[in-house]
Amino acid sequence: MNLHLTKSYFRFIKNSKHKKGYGLHSPFMFNLVREIMYGKQHYYAFDAINNYRTKLSRSKETIQTTNFGNGSQVFKLSSKKISQLNKHSSIPAKYGELLFKIVNHYQPQNIIELGTSIGISTAYLSLANTKSTIHTIEGCKQTSDFAKNTFQELNCTNINQHTGHFDEQLPKVLKSLNQLDLAFIDGNHNYAATIDYFKQCLHKTHNNSILVFDDIYWSEEMTQAWQEIVQHEAVTVSIDLFRLGIVFFRKECQKQHFIITY
Ligand SMILES: C[S@@+](CC[C@H](N)C(=O)[O-])C[C@H]1O[C@@H](n2cnc3c(N)ncnc32)[C@H](O)[C@@H]1O
Repeated sequence: MNLHLTKSYFRFIKNSKHKKGYGLHSPFMFNLVREIMYGKQHYYAFDAINNYRTKLSRSKETIQTTNFGNGSQVFKLSSKKISQLNKHSSIPAKYGELLFKIVNHYQPQNIIELGTSIGISTAYLSLANTKSTIHTIEGCKQTSDFAKNTFQELNCTNINQHTGHFDEQLPKVLKSLNQLDLAFIDGNHNYAATIDYFKQCLHKTHNNSILVFDDIYWSEEMTQAWQEIVQHEAVTVSIDLFRLGIVFFRKECQKQHFIITY
């Protein structure tokens, strides 16, 4: 853990309330926390993804990856083990399952993901509602190619992969959509990029859209970006789960920020 992450975690624990939904008065939030986040439903897809990940954890395969740093510069190629990408770059099961449950409940039609990596979070988004369309963007071609195997193995048939830098791919994908229902932003974790992706997405969001940001306490820059997003006038409900930040635009809800241990 870096120092910012550690300090932020203690502050988060001190400020967090509403564990398991107790004390939440808003029906929207109560439902979200009690039924969706802490709901006990178990889905076949969770087992399928877990089994696939167990297989990846034993893989000896290595791929050449193009590393995208914290910024828009492209760094040199490096060799990465699939098992390491599975362990360190892919979403932990608990949060992947939360993405799944959110999609399963709210049924967003058009979904954008920034940062496919080897396709684990994409699989959660995809299998939650096979009628939705996922546009997932990844800068590294080799990683994106590996994600194709993930989608085949897990029978994910509603995914459009876009390979290239977010700066060039996101505007194209957004232009092709009449509206954006859900976005999962999980790459290029720096202040300027995160604010830029948020603002680009805003052009296509509507009352029921949902934006999810990963690693909001990863660095001071990420936390600054998250705090600015929470303050934005278009955002009504915002939820801080420490790892993930989720924002809603529902005008029927009063502006409120929730810090919830999950
Ligand atoms: C944390 S990983 C994504 C993990 C994935 N969402 C999951 O949980 O399974 C972030 C990915 O974003 C990609 N990435 C980072 N910055 C990028 C950029 N500016 N343009 C395109 N891809 C980028 C990286 O190559 C990396 O594969």
